Amino acid sequence: MASNRKVSLVTGSNKGVGFAVVRALCKSYEGDVFLTSRDVGRGQAAIADLNKEGLQPKFHQLDINDRSSLERLKSFLQTTYGGLDVLVNNAGIAYKDDDPAPFSERAEVTCKTNFWATLDVCRVLFPLLRPHARVVNVSSMSCQSAITKCSPAVQGRFKDPCLMMDGLEKIMQEFVDAAKESTHQDQGFPNMPYGMSKIGVTVMSFIQDREIRKDSREDIVINACSPGRVATDMTSHKGTKTIDEGADTLVYLALLPLNTTSPRGSLVADRTIQNSG
Ligand SMILES: NC(=O)c1ccc[n+]([C@@H]2O[C@H](COP(=O)([O-])OP(=O)(O)OC[C@H]3O[C@@H](n4cnc5c(N)ncnc54)[C@H](OP(=O)(O)O)[C@@H]3O)[C@@H](O)[C@H]2O)c1
Repeated sequence: MASNRKVSLVTGSNKGVGFAVVRALCKSYEGDVFLTSRDVGRGQAAIADLNKEGLQPKFHQLDINDRSSLERLKSFLQTTYGGLDVLVNNAGIAYKDDDPAPFSERAEVTCKTNFWATLDVCRVLFPLLRPHARVVNVSSMSCQSAITKCSPAVQGRFKDPCLMMDGLEKIMQEFVDAAKESTHQDQGFPNMPYGMSKIGVTVMSFIQDREIRKDSREDIVINACSPGRVATDMTSHKGTKTIDEGADTLVYLALLPLNTTSPRGSLVADRTIQNSG
């Protein structure tokens, strides 16, 4: 029989900001903390590192691009815990500036992982969220610069307070399709695949917040956030923040107290609301 023990889970947490979120949650979360990794070896090595610090995270494999991996995780959580209390959607990718991959590929692959796979995680795991659950979708401040580079018409579509998830998916698909034809700029999209993928994550969070407020489960709080510029493999270690500093806002949002009304449905950086849906 499933236990009622509280449980938190961080995607893409074998290294970088996600690893530091697990470290912080192990110290402050009253429940089990799951480090997840698409590669079991890298995940187990990360667990061993945290064990050396006297911390005891649990491990489950998760590749957010692999639906069967996601379904296995869901079934494990359902059987073992009967629910989920904290979900930190941290896993993400970014091509290096000097990567020779064509723009069309960078647009498609970056949006596939950062936007669609994160949305998939939410669609599969949200039914498990218990009342008072907290969801943190890791975006980036680059979504702010990307949106200012969209045409006024595209900006208006992203900012429409009545936008639904299928409408957002349509805009994101239009960007990827236009990138393949090299017409994305004519259609009002910027030359910023990563920034576009993170607009998707931010607007997705705003829509999820509007949807979850109608849910019968009380006090489920969903926010997007930026960790800031963090020294990780993603930034070739050029960021100014350490991974623990980068994790701070994510952990703050993951541990928001009962019946939080703000931040809720917001984009948060340095524990400060930058924007709300
Ligand atoms: N670093 C920054 O300055 C910065 C700024 C703004 C936003 N962010 C965002 O913060 C988050 C963490 O970034 P980071 O800097 O810590 O990057 P990182 O060091 O490159 O770590 C990214 C993590 O995501 C995992 N991942 C990638 N694709 C995955 C998939 N399909 N399934 C499961 N896990 C996957 C990676 O696993 P592998 O080890 O297997 O590749 C790794 O554990 C990302 O969402 C990123 O966009 C970072």
